[in-house]
Amino acid sequence: MDKLIIRGGQRLVGTIPVSGAKNSALTLIPCALLTEEPVTLRNLPRLADIDGFQHLMNQFGVTTAIQGTRPEDFGRTMRLEATRITSSVAPYDLVRKMRASILVLGPMLARAGEATVSMPGGCAIGNRPIDLHLKALEALGAEIELAQGYVKAMQPDGGMPGGDFDFPVVSVGATENAVMAAVLANGTSRLFNAAREPEIVDLCNLLTAMGAEIEGIGTSDLTIHGVKRLHGATYRVMADRIEAGSYACAAAITGGDVRLEGAKADEMQATIHALRSIGVHVDEDAKGIRIAANGALRPADLTTAPYPGLATDMQAQLMALLCKADGTSVLKETIFENRFMHVPELARMGADVTANGRTAVVKGVDTLTGAEVMATDLRASMSLIIAALAAQGESQVRRIYHLDRGYERLEEKLKLVGADIERVGDD
Ligand code: EPZ
Repeated sequence: MDKLIIRGGQRLVGTIPVSGAKNSALTLIPCALLTEEPVTLRNLPRLADIDGFQHLMNQFGVTTAIQGTRPEDFGRTMRLEATRITSSVAPYDLVRKMRASILVLGPMLARAGEATVSMPGGCAIGNRPIDLHLKALEALGAEIELAQGYVKAMQPDGGMPGGDFDFPVVSVGATENAVMAAVLANGTSRLFNAAREPEIVDLCNLLTAMGAEIEGIGTSDLTIHGVKRLHGATYRVMADRIEAGSYACAAAITGGDVRLEGAKADEMQATIHALRSIGVHVDEDAKGIRIAANGALRPADLTTAPYPGLATDMQAQLMALLCKADGTSVLKETIFENRFMHVPELARMGADVTANGRTAVVKGVDTLTGAEVMATDLRASMSLIIAALAAQGESQVRRIYHLDRGYERLEEKLKLVGADIERVGDD
């Protein structure tokens, strides 16, 4: 296992290219199941989870080919062709490594008439149930069976009729599964209180390019008119708004001046608003955003919420930034039940953070000190990197395989703007 060694204190200055969005790519890839024609996805980030999903698609008989990178993209191009489906089962040993595999349930059901997916376990940030995925698919007409740790979804005789579902809780994944199941249904489906994250818009835009008929894209009420078949398409994955927000926090905590090339400001308004309230200077333009800070950081009270609210995936990173603010901040995590695992690790670097249930109180300190810390989940790991970049002395961040799932070429990108960081084998 590798670890990262970071010597803090360098102001980050320069330009960081933003990669394609992991959380969009993970729902765009299974869309290839919905047609026999080739689907080509551009700007895919080089991440462990993307490789894992490619392997899972191969498991179903989908041929995939990496076609290098176009000059205008940072990520790779992947061509997927589901001419014929040879298996509709997503096995435990693949699903347990990548819980996003659950996103094959809807498209496989729509394409093959049935889908069997191992129940994804919980993870560090919560038990991550999938009840809303299953209720939504049942509302569209699917028959669901749970047995031996697997979910089996089947179309009724005559195919999926489609139907209406009102989400009691906003769920990104359940919305994605429902949309992918509805596009080939016999009738019209209406989803209420659906997730509105930009990644859902990306999904709906790809499906529309494939011939799907979806109304209300970008709103919480989606109407999907099922069509007989979908055709292939070529589509460029959106920029990763969480990666961009993460590097914005890194630039800000070092009092740096960094341009995030490719970041889409209009998809990051809640994060930009939070940064500005903390005293960070943010310039938006059509091709990216510029982050500048002069060292003085103000405290803030932040609460995560479904889009367009502040992304839960930005909470840990903003907490790291607020550890250096001049005053006391309060962060409320409303989406997941256990998303403060970065708190004890930040405390080991001298941060003054008290977590109580879903609320954390951050008292800003003048100095963070480098320490050996342990990554626990993807965004918690990034918060430790952010703190280490501003800490005095050397930090070692271990178990960085968590980071490799969500941050493409992390140390390379940080070195581009002057960070003193290196990846070494962890004895
Ligand atoms: C997606 O997870 C993202 N992952 C997460 O990003 C992100 O934190 C989350 O959306 C919220 O924005 C991917 O897109 C691959 P949810 P997802 O369903 O779809 C509860 C990262 O760091 N819920 O919107 O699993 C659930 O427990 C990852 O990149 C149910 O109760 O999130 C949570 O409390 C972490 N039943 C809330 O809804 C269900 O059936 C929101 O979860 C489904 C969810």
